[in-house]
Order: sequence, then C-alpha cells, then structure tokens
Amino acid sequence: MSGGLRVEERERFVLATLDRPEKRNAIDQELIDALHRLCARLEVERRTLVITGSGGTFAAGADIAQLRERRATDALAGINTRCFQRIRALPMPVIAVLDGYALGGGAELAYAADIRIGTPSLKIGNPETGLGIIAAAGATWRLKEIVGEALASEVLLAGRVLGADEALAAGLVSDVLEPEAALARAAELADRIAALDPAATQATKRALLAPASAHPEIDLAEQAVLFESPEKHRRMTAFLERKATR
Ligand code: COA
Repeated sequence: MSGGLRVEERERFVLATLDRPEKRNAIDQELIDALHRLCARLEVERRTLVITGSGGTFAAGADIAQLRERRATDALAGINTRCFQRIRALPMPVIAVLDGYALGGGAELAYAADIRIGTPSLKIGNPETGLGIIAAAGATWRLKEIVGEALASEVLLAGRVLGADEALAAGLVSDVLEPEAALARAAELADRIAALDPAATQATKRALLAPASAHPEIDLAEQAVLFESPEKHRRMTAFLERKATR
C-alpha cells in the first residue's frame, strides 16, 4: 500500500485498488504518483493489470481540494491526463472493475482501460463543467470513441450520469456483475489472456491503440515480426498436429 494505492500480486495479473475510501477514492497527486510507479513496473514486467476501487466506489473524481488550487501551468502539465495515457499505453491489457461512483477523473481512468466490467451500483459520468472545468484527461476523445458522439455529448455537456444498465447498453462496460463476481470475471479474463501469446497480445494492443492513419501498415509490420517468431510456429504446429491425431 502506497499513496492510496493497494497493489497485490496475483498469479496471472496485478490487482491495484484505489484505496482512499474516506475520500471516495478521489485521485490526488499521491495516488497519481503511485499509479506512475505501478506503470513503471508494468512497462518492464508486462503483466495484465486489474484496477478497482475500495469501499463500494471506483473513484469520485480528481481530488477537488487539490484541483481548486491548480493553475494554468498545472493544467498544461496534464497531471491526470499523462498518467491515464501511460495506463492506456501499458503493454498488456488493463481491466477496470467499476463499483459505485466512477465520476470525473475516475470515469476517465476507467475510459483508459481496455476492458471495463461494472457492478449494479455503477454511476459513471463527467460532472466537470459543473465545477467550472473541462474533462481534460481523456473523456472528450475516449468516451466519444467508446459510446459515440451523441451519448458522449450528453454525458459531457449535460452532465448525464449513466447507471449500470445504461453503461452496458452503450457498450461502456462489457458486463454487469455483483462486486465479487465482477472481480472473478476480471481474473477469468486475465487467465484467458495469460494462455495466449504475450507477444501477439501486445502487438494487438499496439495496433488497437494506433490512430486510423496508421492502418493497415502498423498491422502488417506487427504481423511481419510475429510471422518470424518461433512461438507462432510452435502454436500453429501444435494445432495442426492435434488435428492430425483426431
Ligand atoms: N475530491 C475530493 N474529495 C472528495 C471527492 C472529490 N472528487 N469526492 C468525495 N470527496 C470527499 C468528500 O469531500 C467527503 O470528505 P469529508 O468527509 O472530509 O467531508 C468524503 O469524500 C465523502 O464524500 P460525500 O460527498 O460525503 O459522500 P457521498 O457518498 O454522500 O457522495 C459522491 C458521494 C461521489 C456523490 C460525492 O462525494 C460527490 O459528488 N463527489 C464529487 C464528484 C465530482 O464532482 N467529481 C468530479 C471531480 S473532477
């Protein structure tokens, strides 16, 4: 536990829990620093990350007490934005388990994950304009990509907060399960990911994150590397030999 982030080792993934329940897991500078430390580690160790929050909340946003004191230079430094970009770019998949409130910066952290699983109490949205600021840590581009411009505009411009069913219908979460089952589903996904070729998984994530203009060249370049890999040959041979012995 450091900086409000509890990090636990699991066999197939790392579980990180935002753990400032008395402040509804509001994301302050210490938490951002702890997330950067975790990223530095996962960039080297290349493990799947499951991120969640404690006390029945994912995160009620950036810490408003700190936010109030921030000035133009802090905005330009992109304190949360850079951290969430780094999480988004982690080599292996990031799975967010969203219980309760995921608001403001908490929602933007969730948008930075590759896969999101909600619980029935999920309330996700971006109330930033009500505080006199914009959602500058990913919502204006990622939410639009995930749910489309119409719904993203309602969330961002009219402060609409989505419940679990609405988030599921919009494709913002891929499933809604009770908290324990949601964590179990995340673990199940991490197990499934661990059985796949990590090089292919990482290449797929790089291609998924690339801008439209990078396709299809990036896909071809990634595939060219994988076509030369012994692991590809081994996996395909195993499949063909298994079929031959049927
Ligand atoms: N930043 C700083 N502190 C926060 C916070 C945030 N984003 N969200 C909650 N807290 C603090 C509260 O100030 C309170 O602290 P206190 O006990 O020292 O007074 C504590 O967390 C509990 O919050 P409270 O509002 O009493 O809990 P609740 O369960 O009644 O309501 C929320 C939960 C999430 C609806 C409510 O806390 C809220 O609206 N938070 C702000 C959401 C927001 O605007 N986020 C966008 C930020 S960019």
